[in-house]
Amino acid sequence: MLSNQSADPAKRTSLHGHWSSRMAFILAVTGSAVGLGNVWKFPYVTGQNGGGAFVLIYLACVAIIGMPVMMSEILMGRRGRRNPIATMKLLGAEEGKSTNWSLVGAMGIVAGVLILSYYSVVGGWTLFYVMKSAVGTFHAIGPGEITDIRNGFLGSWSMVGLFHTIFMALTIFVVARGVERGLEQAVRFMVPALLLLMIVLLGYAISSGHFDEGLAFMFRPDFDSLTWNSVLAAMGQAFFTLSIGMGAVMAYGAYLPEETSISGASAAVALSDTVIAILAGLVIFPLVFANDLDPADGPGLVFITLPLAFSQMAGGVFFSTVFFVLLTFAAWTSAISLMEPAVAWIVEKFNRTRAQAAVLIGLLIWATGFGTVLSFNVLANFRFWRGTIFDNLDHLTINIMLPLGGMLIVIFAGWVMCRNSTADELGGSGAVYRLWRFLARIVAPIGILFVFLKAVGLLPSLT
Ligand code: TRP
Repeated sequence: MLSNQSADPAKRTSLHGHWSSRMAFILAVTGSAVGLGNVWKFPYVTGQNGGGAFVLIYLACVAIIGMPVMMSEILMGRRGRRNPIATMKLLGAEEGKSTNWSLVGAMGIVAGVLILSYYSVVGGWTLFYVMKSAVGTFHAIGPGEITDIRNGFLGSWSMVGLFHTIFMALTIFVVARGVERGLEQAVRFMVPALLLLMIVLLGYAISSGHFDEGLAFMFRPDFDSLTWNSVLAAMGQAFFTLSIGMGAVMAYGAYLPEETSISGASAAVALSDTVIAILAGLVIFPLVFANDLDPADGPGLVFITLPLAFSQMAGGVFFSTVFFVLLTFAAWTSAISLMEPAVAWIVEKFNRTRAQAAVLIGLLIWATGFGTVLSFNVLANFRFWRGTIFDNLDHLTINIMLPLGGMLIVIFAGWVMCRNSTADELGGSGAVYRLWRFLARIVAPIGILFVFLKAVGLLPSLT
């Protein structure tokens, strides 16, 4: 029996401790949100999906779907004060409804494990680039050589596997110690530093002579060539970049002090996350066009464009080392949050220590990661459904599991939980509350369902 099973939600506490302040929580969620999704994924999926229209839909999804889902996750987490499975079970029972909602928490834990399995491989890739930058490999070289370096790395499963292993070890280490120790300081420094370096890079991109082209690519929408699959990818990206739909934010919400404003915290996180993603795009696309690269190049896009920028820039060795260190940090603080729900669940359910749970889950994720490690070399031609193992994991988790989880979460917060419970957590029933409730009950679930149905072609088109 947990020591914290108070019937009064305001008196419940988490087994895993609490954030030291409102700021600590915002920093932790920002650390979770800002990561490879902003710098690595956002530019390449934008490139693959044709730019402008994709970006607009992504922004709309952040505002009208992402925000209500994030607020719902936090309020549920804080009310339940447990891991996502137990939280949804408890809240379901308290509202006099089914306890099977805990299955949503379980799906989230599975999604987290799967996402981290490839996230860690890409995290390892950034770590490799730290090393390459520091020894000056990227100094004064051209697109051809950088492509060779990237392909050489990806082609070696042992190298990719080695750096994946290091990244996973770092993640397990922090999660074992508990998320509030260390994480706060890291993020307090990392997010502003990353922002600053992005601005340095932006200056370089502006001077590349192709800034207008990059700007036009990102912001001039061409809705005619937009497919429903791209809309689905934009929605998936909104979930992925905000870390929502799998219970990571719910788990962090469980450690949130009672008095913190949930809407304010969510807005702060969504805003900083979006700014960093847009900045990344504004840095990368001018460089893509300046160097005659293909915007639809795929997952390796930033690993070509950014070293190219650094190779030509004054002080490039220094800047590229610092940049990839920061990106690795950003990936690290995100990876931690992907593991937290699973670890919290094992600790609570099986009475294990954090260290035991982190090592157990970490090893499972590490092993699963080899599916992705091999997708770029040995098994590159092993293709089904969406492509390689990596392509399938990526599509399944980001475009299906996260939006589905998000849809069930807003339905839970909007329809299963009664008005009193949610108003209690969101601080009364003013205008912000009414807007949240409308988005959570109507706009977000219908929007997500609509995009799903459209993407699989189940709804007839009107045009
Ligand atoms: N948001 C992170 C990024 O953009 C990735 C991430 C961390 C995540 N935790 C998550 C994605 C939970 C989905 C769910 O890099």
